[in-house]
Amino acid sequence: MKVGILEERDDSFARDVASSISDLDVHFIRLGELPVPGKSDFKVILDRQSFNRPFLREAMKAFSLNGTYVINNPFTSQLFNKNVDMNICQSLGIPHPKTIILPMMEEVEDHSVTEPDIDSILRQIDLPCVLKPYDGYAWENVYVVTTKSEFRNLYDSLKFRRVMLAQQYIERKHYYRVFCVNKEKMLFSEHVPKPLCQGAYLESDLKPLEGIIDRLREWSIKLNTELDLDLNALEWCIDTDGNPFLIDAFNEVPEVLKHNMPESQYSWLVSKVSECIREKAGKEEINRNPFNTSGRT
Ligand SMILES: Nc1ncnc2c1ncn2[C@@H]1O[C@H](COP(=O)(O)OP(=O)(O)O)[C@@H](O)[C@H]1O
Ligand SMILES: [Mg+2]
Repeated sequence: MKVGILEERDDSFARDVASSISDLDVHFIRLGELPVPGKSDFKVILDRQSFNRPFLREAMKAFSLNGTYVINNPFTSQLFNKNVDMNICQSLGIPHPKTIILPMMEEVEDHSVTEPDIDSILRQIDLPCVLKPYDGYAWENVYVVTTKSEFRNLYDSLKFRRVMLAQQYIERKHYYRVFCVNKEKMLFSEHVPKPLCQGAYLESDLKPLEGIIDRLREWSIKLNTELDLDLNALEWCIDTDGNPFLIDAFNEVPEVLKHNMPESQYSWLVSKVSECIREKAGKEEINRNPFNTSGRT
């Protein structure tokens, strides 16, 4: 059974997964031009790279439309952003910070977009609040804003370039990165968030989650099922009153670094992702797509 791995350079996690399924026919993928139909003889591909490579993303879609199971689904993962995620959370009853999407202002006059009413926004989400791009990742341009003039200045400096979100600030008591594999297996990893992937994973003390962990599991699985993600890291923040909020619903290519997480967590991830690939390789399952054409080739 042929399994493909699409990895960023030096992705030791992908390499360790490949080693642990070495009894399958595993290949690291390199692609040139791609004729239509974009058929591949890989039964399953673990895709850790196409999220920021448009050609590879299209290749994954073509393979998926022609019968390869891609982890993660290239159709759904392309659609997510922090606006979509928060709206899906709302519809699934998952607690999330109050969020307001702010207009991006075109530099030419645009009659369909008006300047937002900052007083009204701050009445809804209070200060301090968070300003962040709707499509950011790796903590890029995430600001905690403490005054109205700071809000105004930051928004003014970003409004021509990005769609921004204003969000209720959740004061954290605990922060967990919750890995969810195959929409069922979950690992709660207590996390000290820091920019540029410098955050540390800790030996996880689940005591603070007593009484809410079952709900967190249920919500996380529901969300990953809705998003059709086989590998995702969710960020659950527990506030100072013990209430959970889903801050970041979507890290489809989570950074998994051996040196910044406990060994037991790292090996859990390698083993569960390997099991997931093995399971998909042995099944006829195909990715969900919006066109209802999968498997017709
Ligand atoms: N509403 C919020 N309340 C408190 N902290 C937040 C909030 N939004 C973001 N943060 C902090 O900023 C970090 C980065 O924000 P996040 O939404 O996860 O963006 P990214 O996708 O860039 O990682 C989070 O890990 C968290 O520590
Ligand atoms: Mg995040």
